[in-house]
Amino acid sequence: KHIVNHAHMLKTRAKPWMGPQRSSAAVDGSTTNSVKANLPAESLHAKTIALLFSKRSTRTRLAAETSVALLGGRALFLGRDDIQMGVNESVRDTARIVSGMCQGIVARVGDHSEIEEIAKWADVPVVNALSSLWHPTQILAGLLTLHDHAAVFQSLSKPTPTPTPSPTSTHAIAQPETTPALPALPPLTIAYVGDCANVLHDMLVAYPRLGHRMRVAAPLQYRPPAEVMRRVVQLGCNRGIEWFENPLEAVYGAHVVVTDTWVSMGQEAEKEERIRAFEGYQVTEKLCAHAHPDWMFMHCLPRKSDEVNDEVFYGPRSLVFQEADNRKWTTMALFDLLFGQWSLGPEDP
Ligand code: CP
Ligand code: NVA
Repeated sequence: KHIVNHAHMLKTRAKPWMGPQRSSAAVDGSTTNSVKANLPAESLHAKTIALLFSKRSTRTRLAAETSVALLGGRALFLGRDDIQMGVNESVRDTARIVSGMCQGIVARVGDHSEIEEIAKWADVPVVNALSSLWHPTQILAGLLTLHDHAAVFQSLSKPTPTPTPSPTSTHAIAQPETTPALPALPPLTIAYVGDCANVLHDMLVAYPRLGHRMRVAAPLQYRPPAEVMRRVVQLGCNRGIEWFENPLEAVYGAHVVVTDTWVSMGQEAEKEERIRAFEGYQVTEKLCAHAHPDWMFMHCLPRKSDEVNDEVFYGPRSLVFQEADNRKWTTMALFDLLFGQWSLGPEDP
């Protein structure tokens, strides 16, 4: 909640100077100065953040590299073919070496145990940039996107205003009075249709705690693994989740419909079997005929047309490109908190 709030502030202050709407003719020294003046541009001064990516990435890598640059630091991208990890050197030794020279690690890994191993042996903060089980930074962007579109949802029910304490800023940028507060969301019903993978897993442990209900439709054999469900129960989120096999039932009355690829990275060998298993789960206008009349669509991307057709994906209900854009602001907020100078106040968790 605090990271999304901080992301909203960074975005509100800096985006007008950076968006594609600004013509190249107008991008001059004053633009650079304005971006710097509106961001904690020295937050990562003299810091290097290692990006250890053993899988492909467009959004996560772009968000990380551009955020580190705007926060005044240096991102060091280390792909699977660049370093010794996993070939000539253990994850344990690599984590110690990297954390000796860098001030933060952002890692995209295969099996989730790898990120646990990195976190265990690194002496610097470690961010999970996607593992076999979780994709936490994606949910920050999803949440900011929902807040950005709060006006669409306001008519659904009257929101209960929950005052969000502003984080105490230790760097020069304080939230100015002119920055509009993050718009509040009413309790939403969020339907997820498709494969229960890393992105859904983080939705399951995040949205119910924020007062939203989840309705998940997936074939029985593709429900989350026991270790994910243990965490869901441990956090009390199971009370906010309903499970279905029939996607029609899950989307009934939903304000937001979400899906993800049916074939996640590393599952390519199962492709045919999975496409067969998810037949009938494609998100279409027809499937969502009984969703809330103002339903919106979200997807982490990259997308294939198996799980959502073009009409929905490129249609007016789709928030997918706004969600992708929000990866940058939420990543910047997270890095400012974890690696940089922004800190939460004493009253915050
Ligand atoms: N959504 C997401 O994580 O995209 P990338 O795999 O391109 O980083
Ligand atoms: N479930 C997908 C998410 C990609 C961002 C995967 O792991 O490939």
